[in-house]
Amino acid sequence: MSQAFDTLCEYLRRNSGLVMEQSKKYLVESRVMPIVRREKLSGLEELVALLQKGQSPKLAKDVIEAMTINETYFFRDKSPFDQFRTVMLPAMLAARQNEKRLRIWSAAASTGQEAYSIAMILDDFAARIPGWKVEIVGTDLSEQVLEKARKATYSQFEVQRGLPAPMLLRHFNQIGESWQLSDHIRSKVTFRPLNLLADFTTLGRFDIIFCRNVLIYFDAVRKTDILARMTRVLAPDGFVTLGASESLIGLKTDLVGHGEHRGIFMRAGAAPAVEQSAMRVAPQPSATLPIGFGAAAMSASRLRTTG
Ligand SMILES: C[S@@+](CC[C@H](N)C(=O)[O-])C[C@H]1O[C@@H](n2cnc3c(N)ncnc32)[C@H](O)[C@@H]1O
Repeated sequence: MSQAFDTLCEYLRRNSGLVMEQSKKYLVESRVMPIVRREKLSGLEELVALLQKGQSPKLAKDVIEAMTINETYFFRDKSPFDQFRTVMLPAMLAARQNEKRLRIWSAAASTGQEAYSIAMILDDFAARIPGWKVEIVGTDLSEQVLEKARKATYSQFEVQRGLPAPMLLRHFNQIGESWQLSDHIRSKVTFRPLNLLADFTTLGRFDIIFCRNVLIYFDAVRKTDILARMTRVLAPDGFVTLGASESLIGLKTDLVGHGEHRGIFMRAGAAPAVEQSAMRVAPQPSATLPIGFGAAAMSASRLRTTG
């Protein structure tokens, strides 16, 4: 098992970026052994041998998908979404007021909650941006999670995690035990399969990139490479936001932290320009008013231009 486990780890690292530690051996037991049994193989050794032969893309896909961690929830960690609403989006709306076009990427979209949280916030701004073309693209390595993302049907447990009640009532319909997101919000997001280790220039240029809670699973070399390629598809004045436990410390990258807002990153040299063009929206008092509750009306009255 140990030799096969090591070989599987190396396989996963090369093909998905995922770095498995010895302490994660239990994950192989619980997630990969069911595939071994389903395929009626003699054990992990035979599975690894088949993977190495590279003759079964479906098997490879199943094993990689089984090992991904898909944990996500609406408005995860809250602060990146508050920053999206009050810092990144106002700055971009000011900077793009001539072309009226905005592209946002959820780079490890999992089951869609991140991209849909963004779409629900944008919906609060809709009255102020008539005629704008806003695209939200969600990508993930796992086709399985993308299938669920496209369906946009969530359990009671899933909608209870992070989604403010007024947003649930406004944007979801209850169907039996589940909650389905409205077609209106669903239509704002496009989901596409994408391995971040592969070329992603075909996705085009983005103004805001959410790359959250995925780099954490990769080694420094892969993190650096992905961030470098991501920077190349980022607009010169665009923003990147990472997960709460992710940072650029120790990585060679052209991104730098936003001077004022932790967790927001920009191309080195872009910060002053961003600061000058940024319109500020006062942060919403979320303790008394949940995200999105009457936000369009509220933030419209609070908009002021700086710089
Ligand atoms: C923990 S979830 C994060 C979801 C969301 N961004 C969030 O912060 O809540 C990580 C996602 O990254 C995806 N992933 C893992 N390796 C990937 C790769 N090489 N390319 C693209 N997506 C990957 C997984 O399938 C999983 O859905």
